[in-house]
This record gives sequence, structure tokens and C-alpha cells, in this order.
Amino acid sequence: MLKVDSLDKRYGQFQAVNNVSFTLEPGQIMGFIGSNGAGKTTTIKMLATLLEPTSGRAELNGRVIDSNDLEVRKQIGYMPDFFGLYEDIKVWEYLDMFATLYGVPTEERDRVIDEVLELTDLGFKKDAFAQSLSRGMQQRLCLARCLVHNPSLLLLDEPASGLDPRARSELKELIGELGRMGKIVIVSSHILPELADFSTVVGIIEQGNLLAFGSVKDVVRSMTPAKKVQVRLLEKGAEASMWLHGKAHVSGTEFVNPNELRFDFTGQPEDQAELLRVLVNEGFPVVEYLDEEANLEDLFMRVTKGALN
Ligand SMILES: Nc1ncnc2c1ncn2[C@@H]1O[C@H](COP(=O)(O)OP(=O)(O)O)[C@@H](O)[C@H]1O
Ligand SMILES: [Mg+2]
Repeated sequence: MLKVDSLDKRYGQFQAVNNVSFTLEPGQIMGFIGSNGAGKTTTIKMLATLLEPTSGRAELNGRVIDSNDLEVRKQIGYMPDFFGLYEDIKVWEYLDMFATLYGVPTEERDRVIDEVLELTDLGFKKDAFAQSLSRGMQQRLCLARCLVHNPSLLLLDEPASGLDPRARSELKELIGELGRMGKIVIVSSHILPELADFSTVVGIIEQGNLLAFGSVKDVVRSMTPAKKVQVRLLEKGAEASMWLHGKAHVSGTEFVNPNELRFDFTGQPEDQAELLRVLVNEGFPVVEYLDEEANLEDLFMRVTKGALN
């Protein structure tokens, strides 16, 4: 379990990370979302023991995350936002070097290297030079390197940046697999839809503050004051729009199509059912009546705009 407790980082007067707390269980994948300069890298570096918090602390499986504690450091895999690959080194040599650094016993190294190569789909590049790999493969190699010591916490700082859609989707698969292996994974991004489909929880950070934390669904719900309801009719779209105007809990009616409307609804589910009943009773030929899933991108824009104002 990862317990982050009131982490703070100040640079002089500037508060880069402010009182950030959250908890993650094995198998959870946290999408760590925030715009540039929000404090993602700073938080991740503190969790990676590369940066000393100004105050607060984090614990991994009961041990304080501290740069002097080698045991806890061995449980952490960190993939930085920028990484360099050494010249003239082969894929397996690169992994062998990191396995050695992390103290993987000699007799286990070959097996471990084959395992991480298989996991990252790089087995066929074992003898290739690291520099010759595509950007997506280099990214996976960097991730492979973070796995040689079988860490229980993985910190991936913007791993999808600079990847094409195909490489992104391969990376997503891989991150999902790491979660299924029971690891705790934190993945940062400023691009939201990237994270929504495989994250089990999201944390939204802005100006150093963790504005929201929880399941995608809960965060969306707690941050969405009104939900969007969409109605599709066979006909009479314009009349329905007029009819809806001024009804309780309904506002902002707009047309998606001439016979398809969308509006903000602030009532309870009972009110929503009642509205449908009356709508049908009035003779409107309703084909569809549904809640629109709040879009994570919209939500993010709303939340961060709130923080900036
Ligand atoms: N060493 C530093 N000294 C002063 N300010 C810093 C330092 N490192 C980061 N910052 C500031 O802290 C804030 C958060 O940065 P960072 O964690 O890198 O954001 P993100 O990764 O979300 O883009 C930014 O405003 C950045 O300019
Ligand atoms: Mg960053």
C-alpha cells in the first residue's frame, strides 16, 4: 500500500506541491492529471526519493519513502519524463546493467531480462542497439529497465508523451498489465482521455493542490454540478425544446440534431424519471433518454479553470 501524507514542496516562497495526500492499494493505477507546471513531476520525484519533501511523507508497504532506505528504494521503479539511452549499448546489455545496479543476483539476471523483454514486447530486439529502436520501443525499454528489480510501486512520468497513437495504445496495454500483476502504478499526463480508460483512480492536481482524487466515475460525479441528459425524439424536437424550457431542474437546452436535445439536469433520479413520464404523456415520441457520460476533458477544464480563478 502507498500512503502519501501531506506532502509539501517549496522552492523558496514558491509552493510547488501543497499538502498532497492519497492512498493507493496494490493493483491500482492512478492517472495523475494536471497541466504543465501543476506539480506532477515534483510529486513523483519525491515519491521516487529523488527530491526531499519540505514536509509531509509517504509510506510504501509500511516503510517511509526515504532516500537513505535502500530496501524501500528497491521497491520503487521510476521512469522519468526525459531519459537518455547510452550510445553503443545493446538492449539486453542495458537491462543487464540496471539489473546489476539493483542487485539482481547473477544467476537470475538472464531470466529476469527475458521476462521484462517479453512483458514489454521487446524480445525480438534483445540484440539490437538501444539507439536503433523507435521512440515507442525506447519508451518500452525504459519501462523494462524500471521493472528488472520487480518493484511494487511504479512511477511513470508522462510516459505517453511523444508517442504515436499505436505506440500509445501498446503502452496502455502494458500499464494495464502491470496493474493486473498487482503493482501500484502512478502515470502522469496532461492529456486526459489518455488515462481515463485504464486508470482505476484519477488524481487531478493544479497549482500544487490535489483538487480531486477517486474513481473516474466518482470524481466526475463529485465535480459535475449538473448532469447532461440527452433526449432523442422521432419528431417534434422544436416543440419539446419549448416544452422543456422552464421545467424544474432543467436548464441550458440545446439541439444536438433537430430531433435530439441536450440539457443540464440538477434533480434526483426520481425527478429524472418523472420528467420522462410527463414528456411521454404529453405525446412526445421519445426514442432515447439518457445521461451523457461527463467527459473527462470537459471536467478537467472546468476544475482547473476554477483553480485558476
Ligand atoms: N528546482 C525548482 N526550482 C524552482 N521551481 C521549480 C523547480 N522545479 C519545479 N519548479 C516549479 O514547480 C512547479 C511544478 O513543476 P513540475 O512538478 O515540474 O510540474 P509538472 O510536472 O506538473 O509540469 C512549476 O511551476 C515549476 O516551475
Ligand atoms: Mg512534469
